[in-house]
Amino acid sequence: MANLKEEIEKRRTFAVIAHPDGGKTTLTEKLLLFGGAIQVAGAVKSNKIKKSTTSDFMEIEKQRGISVATSVMGFNYKDFNINILDTPGHKDFAEDTYRTLTAVDSVIVVIDVAKGVEEQTEKLVEVCRMRDTPVIVFINKMDREGKDGFDLLDEIEEKLKLTTCPLSWPIGMGQEFKGVYNLYEKQLNLFSPNTKYGNILEFNDILNPELERHIGEDAAEILREEVETIEEVYPEFDQEAYLGGKLSPVFFGSAINNFGVKELLDCFVEIAPSPVEFSTEEREINPYEDKFSGFVFKIHANMDPRHRDRIAFLRVCSGIFKRNTNYLHIRKEKKIKFSNPTTFMASKKEVVDNAYPGDIVGLYDSGNFKIGDTLTEGEILHFKGIPSFSPELFKYIENADPMKSKQLAKGITQLMDEGVAQLFTKNSNNRKIIGTVGQLQFEVLQHRLKHEYSASCQYAPIQLYKACWITSENEDKLAEFIRKKTNYMARDKEGRNVYLAESKWMLQTSQNDYPEIEFHFTSEF
Ligand code: G4P
Repeated sequence: MANLKEEIEKRRTFAVIAHPDGGKTTLTEKLLLFGGAIQVAGAVKSNKIKKSTTSDFMEIEKQRGISVATSVMGFNYKDFNINILDTPGHKDFAEDTYRTLTAVDSVIVVIDVAKGVEEQTEKLVEVCRMRDTPVIVFINKMDREGKDGFDLLDEIEEKLKLTTCPLSWPIGMGQEFKGVYNLYEKQLNLFSPNTKYGNILEFNDILNPELERHIGEDAAEILREEVETIEEVYPEFDQEAYLGGKLSPVFFGSAINNFGVKELLDCFVEIAPSPVEFSTEEREINPYEDKFSGFVFKIHANMDPRHRDRIAFLRVCSGIFKRNTNYLHIRKEKKIKFSNPTTFMASKKEVVDNAYPGDIVGLYDSGNFKIGDTLTEGEILHFKGIPSFSPELFKYIENADPMKSKQLAKGITQLMDEGVAQLFTKNSNNRKIIGTVGQLQFEVLQHRLKHEYSASCQYAPIQLYKACWITSENEDKLAEFIRKKTNYMARDKEGRNVYLAESKWMLQTSQNDYPEIEFHFTSEF
């Protein structure tokens, strides 16, 4: 059997994140082309629900189908085993993305040179910072007119709170884009839209007059000045700092033209972390430990209507995951083994016998798993995830077909386990409330209940400002609060106390009246 240490060291598991339309799909596709995982451009369809807020159900359905296959894309490049974890671009599914970010060792952020740092990118990078995830920045669409390089770096530092360190630098942009100077390899990479990945020249000395010959006098002068400024102003690349999430290398390029992508990938495999330690409530887990451990970060319903099961995506954190071997499902306190665990090479699913730290394994599941579940060889561990955030939109969910109430209950439970939305049950009358981050989630839920569980639901409006989890060391006060606010109290699916505030004013009043009670806006506290 392969050596665990060697297997770990050659793995790179990461996510590409961007604001919708930044170029995430295009960049991912080019990376896969380099790895030979796909042969032609256009093979990876974006799994985002494109630009539509009005729902096109067939489209959602189709795209969800595709996204099962492209949820994890494994490929080999040089001697490395690379796993790209795909993330939904649509903001209504941001929670999905946050959860995927708990399963990666590093991240590449794509930024559109014209648009600069956009809202969704800010939120996603904030989640990366919570875990000190190492971040590489790729500034995309250099073939278009955009913002000045230095201004962009300032914007990244300010909005994303990342300390940057350019490892490549653009020579012009838009019509005048001539290429990039690779500061890391000391190479000049000349842009011509029709070559496979530019024309790369060794260029150790930027003062060499040959530079003029390649890019012209004006561009040469500007490049020399700018490189001098970079050397004066920006920190030198320091791998330790990058690995600690304290320094972010920046590359410039054009994904659609496959330009600057090879530099990015070559540098990435060299500097990006191999599988890192993971935190559990009990202790830190080192990937090199010989005992297997892993956790489920995503659950996906099988799109094939003949197979009702789901796929749970497990990140292997330590040791070797083996097929047909009993593992302890911590929450269920029972042993389970898997006869057909799959990996995702080149967006094809293949049965695997052994999976190593950094790998993502797909486990067929008939309802055993929830997001966050841990599997081990016997040790009691609970991996720390990203908390659920307080939802922003709320609706009552009601049964629209009395003959199908069982199906509806089952569907709701399973879809909540998948993390489609959050469910709260009111204390006073047991009415069920769905909380989401975006309108689209309500539609997806309704659609999936119908198609996967033959259950019909309808929504009724509810006036709610926030749902927050409440705790207190003072049990009497907590009991009093729950009694007095009984019409505004609910339980989440774990049975925890949730206060439903109708308005900002009500929330503030309650907070003032009950200083002994803590109001939490995330579900992990
Ligand atoms: P996303 O996954 O982050 O949402 O972005 P995606 O890759 O789908 O790219 C968004 C749009 O930007 C696409 O155009 C894509 O072709 C374009 N694009 C990506 N990289 C570059 C680049 O380097 N230069 C330029 N000029 N454009 C780029 P679209 O018109 O929305 O879609 P499509 O019809 O071209 O697929």
